[in-house]
Amino acid sequence: MTPFEYLGQSEKQRTEELFKFLSFPSVSAQSKHKQDVQDCANWLKDHLDKIGFKTTMYPTAGNPIIYAELMVGDNRPTVLYYGHYDVQPPEPLNLWITPPFSPETREGYFYARGSSDDKGQTFTHIKGLESIIKSEGSLPVNVKFLIEGEEEVSSANLPEFIRKNKLLLKANICVVSDTAQFNKTLPAVTFGLRGIAPAELFVYGPNRDVHSGTFGGAIANPVTVLCELVAQLHDKNRKITVPGFYKDAKPPSKWERQQFKKLPFNETEYKKSIGISAVAGEKSYTTFERAWIRPTLEINGITGGYQGEGSKTIIPSFASCKITMRLVPNMRPEDINNKLEKYLKKIAPKSVRIELKKYAGAKGVNVPTEGPWLEAAARAIQVGFGKKPVFMKEGGSIPVVSDFKEHLGLDTLLIGFGQIDDNIHSPNERFRVVDFERGCKTAAALPFELAKVKV
Ligand code: BES
Ligand code: MN
Ligand code: MN
Repeated sequence: MTPFEYLGQSEKQRTEELFKFLSFPSVSAQSKHKQDVQDCANWLKDHLDKIGFKTTMYPTAGNPIIYAELMVGDNRPTVLYYGHYDVQPPEPLNLWITPPFSPETREGYFYARGSSDDKGQTFTHIKGLESIIKSEGSLPVNVKFLIEGEEEVSSANLPEFIRKNKLLLKANICVVSDTAQFNKTLPAVTFGLRGIAPAELFVYGPNRDVHSGTFGGAIANPVTVLCELVAQLHDKNRKITVPGFYKDAKPPSKWERQQFKKLPFNETEYKKSIGISAVAGEKSYTTFERAWIRPTLEINGITGGYQGEGSKTIIPSFASCKITMRLVPNMRPEDINNKLEKYLKKIAPKSVRIELKKYAGAKGVNVPTEGPWLEAAARAIQVGFGKKPVFMKEGGSIPVVSDFKEHLGLDTLLIGFGQIDDNIHSPNERFRVVDFERGCKTAAALPFELAKVKV
């Protein structure tokens, strides 16, 4: 039996196992799911054990890290696979057609939170490697798995684990499938990700909600002030106004801008796919450039005052908003958060007190666009998808990729199997059944291709 034959005959079981994995509500952002996260980690460890990996669960100050390995010989390349078993919160629940943790196949898609980001994609490699182990009895490369449970909350405990376990994680190349293909007919290799600097802005007014007739007009309204502050963070050309914001930003290379121009872009389709009537963004840049290689500042949520039924005439005591800034290589998250804080303090009126809570972020990263590893990945994708991949970048962040480079000197192959309309972080997250299957096939081909690289 060949690995592909094994994959062919085990499709039903593979789907059942994937559904089991997807049924754990492993939401890292919500403490009420602490036990579900742990249960998911236990199941995953057990699953990797059964396939034949030597598996360890490493507790952290947050959620456990699953490490697994199968070493076949010193003369072979060692491949470190990374994935995450935690998922984004599923809310708003009423917008899901079927519940987020009751996986279902519908019209060629698996629907569930985590189906694409990132349980489904991680599972392609687990199943691809399993197909080789079950059919050939061994692997052509040494394999190490690092699957964490805190990616969706900035991987706070992972850098320390990496620093303390350099030998354990020693490898020649890293593989991550946690991005998207270019579109439904074009697989892709991603050569860079943006970083992120997350923060939360609080605006405090009166020490309690007060009557808006009694006090209105005489004191500042925290919601109004918050909106004024937020509105001042971009100028007319959609440039970010925070002083020094762009100072360290590595300018895009000619090569990458040319590369993006080669990619097909249908603006009408793009707008239609998410129901908008016009694109918007920083002046003088294309949509791909704005979304992939320019830094941004986004408000992810805003609250303040009465939000229940009917009206309530108050001046709210406080208002707040969640902010994330996307960073390009060379920008440092702490530095950017500090600059934002300084600027907000400067422009805030004396009539309110403001506070910026700054959270741990991640650096942006570029990975190689040529070389033997990349060629091996391209050949594996050709096997799995019947097409050569295109080169693209992504605007999302995967914190560990820059940590691997910094602490282990490791480059990463970003081989995404998802689609831009998989609804990741959104209701009705899904993963195309064919993308899962082609992903598994690519994953079964990849170790043989990587084994050809001289180390
Ligand atoms: N898989 C995504 C990253 C991603 C999204 C890459 C879209 C390419 C395209 C990852 O799980 C993610 O969502 N990361 C967070 C990181 C943050 C919470 C530190 C992100 O980008 O918001
Ligand atoms: Mn992900
Ligand atoms: Mn995500």
